[in-house]
Amino acid sequence: MVKITPSILAADFAIMGQEIAMLDKAGADYIHIDVMDGVFVPNITFGPKLIKDIRKYTTIPFDAHLMIVEPEKHIDAFIEAGCDMITVSYEACNHLHRILQDIRSKGIKAGVALNPATPIDGLQYILPELDLILIMSVNPGFGGQMFIPTVLPKIMAIRKLIDASNFAIELAVDGGIDDKTAAPCLRAGADVLVSGSYLFNSEDKRAAMDLLRKA
Ligand code: DX5
Ligand code: ZN
Repeated sequence: MVKITPSILAADFAIMGQEIAMLDKAGADYIHIDVMDGVFVPNITFGPKLIKDIRKYTTIPFDAHLMIVEPEKHIDAFIEAGCDMITVSYEACNHLHRILQDIRSKGIKAGVALNPATPIDGLQYILPELDLILIMSVNPGFGGQMFIPTVLPKIMAIRKLIDASNFAIELAVDGGIDDKTAAPCLRAGADVLVSGSYLFNSEDKRAAMDLLRKA
């Protein structure tokens, strides 16, 4: 079953509570929360306080996609804010294995995000520590960018790696997902689709999510 994760980067930040309630009603599987620090990526979004405040609008699991340097310094704050999963950026972690273990030891799920130019060598060594692999299909920092098709063979290679292991790891794609790009990602082996602008530009969110699921 394909899961759909709306990215609230495309929401209206001024009415974030209402936006979350609307996504809850429309049947989102997770809520994808893009945290940016202006250092790892050239944009700044929000932090634990906003996450804590929107937590009361839904029981749908929150995945914080941390596009920040030194994420290890902020893990506790994001857990206290109510995140169910924390996905760190591969390129921002000096000790990736340690931080994944640390996240899980605190009782929530752990994921890793890979930039479009990042090779998959090394993932094999951290598979036992992972609940999610997030393939970035745009360069992180902004919503509404064009899908980068060279990530498709990468998705296929990671699908093989996961299937050959005994671990239940979800494979997600993030960036430029719409009614055209969803199908090739699913065919390549993704089982979770993150979508920002496409979903928020759709009138009927439930129908748009169903369309992506069945792409
Ligand atoms: C990009 C973010 C994505 C972004 C996706 O840095 O990680 O989650 O919100 O937005 P769209 O779907 O508009 O590409
Ligand atoms: Zn994201």
